[in-house]
Parts: sequence; structure tokens; C-alpha cells
Amino acid sequence: VTFSEDNSRVVAELPTGESVQVLLHGATVISWKDASGDEKLWLSDAAKLDGSKAVRGGIPVVFPVFGTAPTHPQTKGLPQHGFARTSRWEFLGKSTSESAADDKASASNEPTVKLDFGLSSGSPGLDPVARAHWPFRFNLIYSVTLNPSSLTTSIVATNDGAESFECQVLMHTYLRVNDITKVEIQGLSNAFYTDKVDAGAVKTQTSTPFTIAGETDRVYTPAKEEGVEEEAAVTVAEQGRPKYRVTRDNLSNVVVWNPWTDKAQGMADFEPKDGFRKMLCVEPGAVGAWQAVEAGDAFEGAQTITLL
Ligand code: BG6
Repeated sequence: VTFSEDNSRVVAELPTGESVQVLLHGATVISWKDASGDEKLWLSDAAKLDGSKAVRGGIPVVFPVFGTAPTHPQTKGLPQHGFARTSRWEFLGKSTSESAADDKASASNEPTVKLDFGLSSGSPGLDPVARAHWPFRFNLIYSVTLNPSSLTTSIVATNDGAESFECQVLMHTYLRVNDITKVEIQGLSNAFYTDKVDAGAVKTQTSTPFTIAGETDRVYTPAKEEGVEEEAAVTVAEQGRPKYRVTRDNLSNVVVWNPWTDKAQGMADFEPKDGFRKMLCVEPGAVGAWQAVEAGDAFEGAQTITLL
């Protein structure tokens, strides 16, 4: 595994050629390439990578609030999507293996690299807004694991204090597509969703697979199959060919977002303006309800994006 680190980012490349880049700012994954150098994530040309703003693109980490929550006492003072994406994380180290034989998910001898990042209430890089508006003692460990055919991001949010807190967690993945009008989303049949572009109306996904033909901002709560441990996968296909499979671990929601023309126009850091044609956010999270984390306990969740 080839590896480099400077004071702003960590880059790792597998011997098979796949690579990942993670900014310390937000622990934001800003690039994920396959062996042929083909980029899998969308990143705005105007994204701020200097720590002055959350990154527009890649995989920002949303914690401890999704959107804003003006009526939630603990998080009402926090900015949209919380402070994890605007804090400078610490790189904790890497672990690599040439063989993933111990990992029952892949019996093959695939190389793997795992990068660990940390952010806590004591971190020097913590966004001051957290100290001002979220007075809890916490520790976040965020791990980015690259395999030849997949990327996994996982988070452990530990309550290090004496009182419980409530949080939401989400991985705001901007998947890169060639042409949004050719994209189909599968795996959400009969799922309930809150339609944020229709005043928060609660609906059921009846047509599946479905396509994106305008501004889309939906918080899905897919039903879990009786007796099945795993949450159902969401598949993104393009021109009839499956492209990405997104699986979730302990994350019961999936946000599907595309700003389309007007919203893209309104975001200064969204470039090019027709870039919405090249992206689809599929965001696994625990955002439909508050996750209560008692003193000494932790919330854990993960997503895996597999290339199909
Ligand atoms: C999505 C939300 O997750 O993030 C949208 O559902 C929001 O409502 C989008 O517009 C982008 O948020 P931000 O803060 O990065 O502009």
C-alpha cells in the first residue's frame, strides 16, 4: 500500500491501483478512484478544501444533527449538519493487509487499507461552535476502509461524559454518475419517506426503480425485513447497468438528494452549475429519530459502497 500524509490530507493507494484521499478538515473523503483512475465521488470545482467551509462533495460526515433542529434543546444552537464536517480531525493511523482472509465478508486475498480519524470534545481542531453549543464530552472515531471493489466508512460516537446526549449521524456521500437522467435507484420499494421538497409530506415509494427528474430531497426509512439482520441495500444503476450498491450497518435511513438547477445555482460552492447532472447523494444515516447515547455508551454505524 502506498501512503502519504501531509498537514491537510491522507492519501492511500492499494497495490492493485485503487486510491482514496481524505482531508483532515471534516475527515472528508474527497476522492475514491478505481484501478483505472476513474473517480467514484463527485467533488465541486468550487469546493473549499482549506477548512473555511464544509466540503461541497466527497463524503462529509454529519454529526450530531442532520439539517437543523430548532426545537431540539441539545442541538438547536448548531449549524446545519453539525460540526463534524467543519472540524479538523486528527489522523490516528492506518492498518493494512494484503489478505482479507480474516474478514468473512471477503474470502479472497484482497488488499485493504483502513485509515482512522478522531475528533473529541478535547480536540484542538474542534469547531468552536461545538464548544459554544454542544457541551458534551464525546469521542468520535471515523474509519475509512478501501478494498479493490468497495469503500467502507464507519463511525463510533462515544459518550465520555456523565450525562446522556442525543445525536444524529449521517454520511453525506456524493456519488459520481455520468448522466443523472439515466440513473435509476433500486431497493427502496415501499419505503416511507419524508419529502423535503413537498413541505415534509410523508409518502411511500411506490414506483421502483425510480429516476431523478428534478430537485429531490427525501429522507427514506426502508422497512427492515422480518428476521433479517441486515438493512436492505440501495442500488444505483445507470443506463440499465448496476453501478453502486450502498449497504448500511445500524443506519436506518437513506437520504436521496439532488439539488437540480435552481438549488445548484444558489450554492456559491457548487461548480460547475450543471454539475448536478454528474452527482447523486445517497446518504446512509440515523436521522429519522434521535439516538440516545448514555454516559459511557457509544453509537456505531457504517456504510459500504460496492462497485458493481
Ligand atoms: C442533504 C439535505 O442531506 O444535504 C438537504 O437533505 C441539504 O436538505 C443538503 O440541502 C446539502 O446541505 P448543505 O448544508 O451541505 O448545503
